[in-house]
Amino acid sequence: MLFLLQSVLLPEDVARVRSRLADADWIDGRKTAGPAASAVKANLQAQRCVPERALAQFVCEALARHSVFQACACPSRPLHVLFSRYQPGMAYGLHNDDALMGSDMARIRTDFAITLFLADPDSYAGGALILDGPAGEQAIKLAAGDGVLYAAGALHRVEPVTSGERLAAVVWGQSLIRDAGARALLFDLTQARWALPADAAEAALRIDQVLANLMRRWADP
Ligand code: NI
Repeated sequence: MLFLLQSVLLPEDVARVRSRLADADWIDGRKTAGPAASAVKANLQAQRCVPERALAQFVCEALARHSVFQACACPSRPLHVLFSRYQPGMAYGLHNDDALMGSDMARIRTDFAITLFLADPDSYAGGALILDGPAGEQAIKLAAGDGVLYAAGALHRVEPVTSGERLAAVVWGQSLIRDAGARALLFDLTQARWALPADAAEAALRIDQVLANLMRRWADP
């Protein structure tokens, strides 16, 4: 299941991230991929050093304020953020992401992944995120500042960039709710709660009770 995360970053935030990334130290993306993924990966990634960590923190704080992200992901641990860059000829073939990321106490199970687009879609050709699902392939290329959340275990690829430059942040996280179906049900119920008129206090109270009790049943903090 895909979730659209609109306006995670405002245009001024995107400009700030882009200007900082212009000075980043970019390395071959294969350095952070497992053996299977590195065979199909051809992109650049920002080094995980101090300026990039501050930018990653900036992205995490934006996601923490994003109500749709919080409701559909139910994140439980610190997120992992990577900035990627694709120039003409670069692509990332079909792969699935590592199940575990980080080490020791910082290790997370990757329940979900997000691609947060950082370049104007008209500024580069190709470079769509392609998700492989039961209904076939789905191409996603969003406005700068928008993101899409998907299961990190779903097969996906980035189609070749043929002109311009694709810049994105990729984010992975662990959820309080391991089961994606249960997470989707909670999200549906949260949307019903959001759709209630302001004077439906009794219904709101009862939906909040069900949400809280489903959390008690399913959450793995
Ligand atoms: Ni991936």
